[in-house]
Amino acid sequence: MCVCHRRTFRELMDLVLDRGGMSCEELVREGYCGGGCGMCVPYVKKMLATGETAFAPGDWVIRERTDG
Ligand code: FES
Repeated sequence: MCVCHRRTFRELMDLVLDRGGMSCEELVREGYCGGGCGMCVPYVKKMLATGETAFAPGDWVIRERTDG
C-alpha cells in the first residue's frame, strides 16, 4: 500500500490494467503513489514487474538474495 496516497497495490494494479500499462514513473508523476515518503516505490516496481499486489515487509528482497 502507498500509505501517503492511501492507495492499495491492488488499486494501483487495477489502474495500470485499466490504462493498458503504466510505468512507476508515470504513477508517481500523475500523483497516484510514491510522491510522499517514497517507501512504496520498490514495491510498486515489483508489482509492475510481477503482477503481485501483496508483499510481506522485506519478503521479495530476502527471496532475491536467497534465490541467486
Ligand atoms: S508510501 Fe508511497 S509515497 Fe509514502
